[in-house]
Amino acid sequence: MKPKLLLTRKIPEAAIERLRQHFELIVNPNDAPLSRAELIALVADVQAIICLLTDTIDTTVIDAAPHLKVISAYAVGYNNIDVKYATSKGIAVCNTAGVLTESTADLAWALIMATCRRITESEAFLRAGKFKAWEPMMMLGQDVYNKTLGILGMGRIGQAVAKRATGFGMRIIYYSSSPKELPFEAERVELDTLLREADILSLHAPLTPETKHLIGKAEIALMKPTATLINTARGAIVDEKALIAALADQRIFAAGFDVYEEEPHIPAALLALDNVVLLPHIGSASIATRTNMGFMAAENALAVIEGRKPLSQVNG
Ligand code: NAP
Ligand code: GLV
Ligand code: GLV
Repeated sequence: MKPKLLLTRKIPEAAIERLRQHFELIVNPNDAPLSRAELIALVADVQAIICLLTDTIDTTVIDAAPHLKVISAYAVGYNNIDVKYATSKGIAVCNTAGVLTESTADLAWALIMATCRRITESEAFLRAGKFKAWEPMMMLGQDVYNKTLGILGMGRIGQAVAKRATGFGMRIIYYSSSPKELPFEAERVELDTLLREADILSLHAPLTPETKHLIGKAEIALMKPTATLINTARGAIVDEKALIAALADQRIFAAGFDVYEEEPHIPAALLALDNVVLLPHIGSASIATRTNMGFMAAENALAVIEGRKPLSQVNG
């Protein structure tokens, strides 16, 4: 008999096909996240779950799944999963580390360019019929080349973002838990220095109790008035209210968001700002990467069930 696996949301078909060869699949048939009650009911007799970052896998869900051996996240971030509790129950927690690094770094750069050069604002201006002539003072932004890029969290994605900056002749500084051996020049600095010196500050740390609201009012106050903040990590690393207030007062130049504190809720005060670029959490959203994430999440689940070493396990 095949082991049972719950897939909480449809992922690219090629990955689902691979899962079908090895599992009796329960797939959320709806084009919407499972409700908490649905999730709790559906885990009752599964050995494996492939879940999304929108599924909260806490003690209640884990307790509702007495046969569970593996929680395989279709994501690299796993702040939605109670890893400590899963570990205490002998459940492996896996993620798709690595396969989405380059796509997410590309997206961070899309936000860097879009914020510094006012791309979406300029396009809206044109579409509104306001482009009447080339003008010396129209849509003036900040340069990117030769500036200082600050990376908060010099892990896989932070490094991929920094590597791209070498082509822009940028100085790279970073703040991270540990020093890194890097194939490009970069200086490890204290958080205060990072905030004071970065022209572009890009966040790439995981959301943990230590990083929650790591960037608050006092930290934003240290940033240059010409600086841009880019968040493709997790919304709650930044105190969103404090950032919105700083942007509204033009205390920093702009911000690019792919993630929010209370996704998918976007505060009205944020939507009202011109100096922001707002994306709907699409960091890894390329066709190839989402397919590869599917294969990796499938292989992680299968490896645990078959007693092999998964490609990426976060607890053990
Ligand atoms: P990673 O390789 O684990 O990198 C995270 C880095 O953050 C590590 O280098 C870590 O340092 C550092 N770090 C941890 N705690 C820190 C702290 N308190 N202060 C400073 N640095 C700290 O992870 P990744 O694959 O690059 O992914 C990073 C995050 O991006 C994920 O956790 C996820 O939330 C987010 N993400 C978002 C999207 C999107 O769609 N927008 C896509 C993918 C990922 P050490 O190396 O010293 O431990
Ligand atoms: C996306 O946000 C991820 O963590 O993979
Ligand atoms: C701009 O289009 C220029 O030629 O400077």
